[in-house]
Order: sequence, then structure tokens, then C-alpha cells
Amino acid sequence: MTEAEYYTLYKGVYLPTKVHPPESLKYYEEFTFRPDDILIVTYPKSGTTWMQEIVPLIMSGGDPASVETLPNWVRVPWLELGQSSTHKHEERPSPRMFATHFQYNMMPPSFFDVKPKVIYVMRNPKDVFTSAFHYYGIISIVGDQGTQSEFLHKFLDGKVMFGSWFDHVKGWLNAEDKERIMYISYEEMITDLKDSVARMAQFLEKSLDAQVIEKIADRCVFKNMKQNKMSNYSQVPREFMDQTKSEFLRKGIAGDWKNQLTVAEVEHFDAVYKDRMKDVKYTFLWD
Ligand code: A3P
Repeated sequence: MTEAEYYTLYKGVYLPTKVHPPESLKYYEEFTFRPDDILIVTYPKSGTTWMQEIVPLIMSGGDPASVETLPNWVRVPWLELGQSSTHKHEERPSPRMFATHFQYNMMPPSFFDVKPKVIYVMRNPKDVFTSAFHYYGIISIVGDQGTQSEFLHKFLDGKVMFGSWFDHVKGWLNAEDKERIMYISYEEMITDLKDSVARMAQFLEKSLDAQVIEKIADRCVFKNMKQNKMSNYSQVPREFMDQTKSEFLRKGIAGDWKNQLTVAEVEHFDAVYKDRMKDVKYTFLWD
């Protein structure tokens, strides 16, 4: 397969063709939100799976039943994969939780009418790149990405799954109706998970005792969550995801880019970042 065949261009953004056939995108566009839906939005490798653990635990008041019995993609399915989900989105009871990697301008019309709550998680793009470099090496839905330096150029040009990190973050930061969006970073979650869980619970209007918050945070720290077979992708056959090469829950730290990027790559990354982010007012923890 050529690289072009691995991807479908949707609203100018590269999507993996194997999981996003045209009929699935049509279904997505016609999807109807409910006001109490909860949408977890991330650029890939920013902490999606982590959120698929945290949010169900918040919503269940700390009851671990769903995170112990349902794979992460069943308890918090991909919004854009409604057509192929184990349970049809329409049949799920409220409040429904979804995850999506789609950019703001790719949201279906109903999103702008119904205005469900959104938690948008951002991560240092150098760590996103580092995590993605390992991840692309273990999955079968995209082809060989070449050397690290070649992959870096594709990443910075947005010629990777779900497009440019810069467009993704800027689009969501510039979203309208900001009162229904909570912005949080992977780095804040690493720094103080308990506080992050408490703030998310408040945003989701779930009043939880301090002990429950502590229990949720404890369950969701990397070393504990990694053991959860319903969240570590160990259920996915090796032909689709070969975790003997690199684990999905790989390191779970902030700053691993320092072990991955060369000095020249860091300089190039910083120059592109400075240029692409010059009009962004938001203060990121990694700056
Ligand atoms: P690393 O490859 O840097 O370890 P996503 O789920 O969006 O694909 O993101 C995957 C990244 O989030 C991986 O990063 C993974 O290890 C990290 N991650 C998942 N669960 C985590 C947790 N409980 N604590 C910290 N990092 C976590």
C-alpha cells in the first residue's frame, strides 16, 4: 500500500482509511448529540486512554465496575466510529461519554446546536511526537513512517493521523461557547492528579467526597492503570497492535522528548512551534 492509500482526506485532515470508510463519516455527520453527553477531545497521544479511565470513574461516583469489565473503547467509544461501535451510540443510556480526535471544525452540525460538555486535553507536542513515533511503529493501520527525522517532518506538517497538532490545539482553543469546555493538560494531570480529578468532577457537576477522589486518582496513576487489562489494549490482537515492540501504556511521563529528540530536531521543532503558536494567548505548563 502507498502512503496515500493509508489515508483519507476529510475536511483537509488525514484520517486512517481503514477505520474511517466514507459510510462511517456519513453516519458521523448525521449524529445527534444529547445535552448531557460528555465529549473527551484530544489530539492522539495526549492522554485519551487516561481520560477513558478517569471520566467513567467520576461519573460512577468511583464505582470501578465499568472500567473493570468494559474495554476503554466500549465504555467511552469514539464519536467518529459510531457506525462500527459495539453498541450503537443511539442505544446507549445517558449520560453518554465519547472520545474524539477530530478537530473543532470537523464537529458535526448537532455539536453546535446541542452544546454538550467538552473536556479538551493538551500535551506538550514534543512528548506527543515521542509517544506517536513509538505508537506508529506498533500499529497496522498506517504504513512505515521512515526515520525519526522523516516522521518529525510529517508530524510538524500535519501529514499524520488527525492532522496537525497546531491546528488541533488552536482550533479547540478558539472554540465558541467556552463555558461548556474545560481545558486541561497532561502535564497538570501528571503534576497533581487528585486536583485534576477534583476539577473535572466539579466541571461535570458530580459532587464527590475527598476519599472518592483520592481512590479514583490512585486507580488512575500510570503504574496501576497499566495493569488494567480493559485499558492497556492487551485485548487487541498483535496483527493490529504489536505491543512486543512498544507498549501502548509506554512510559506515562512528561518530558520524555529529551530522551528522544536530537539537538537539531529540538531546534527545528522550537522554530516551527514559535512560528505556529505566535498568535496563541494561552499559557501552557510546558512553555
Ligand atoms: P507515552 O507513550 O508517552 O507513555 P492516548 O491514549 O491519547 O493515545 O495517549 C497515550 C499516552 O498517554 C501514552 O504516553 C501513555 O503511556 C499515556 N498514558 C496513558 N495512561 C496514563 C496514565 N494513567 N498516566 C500517565 N500517562 C498515561
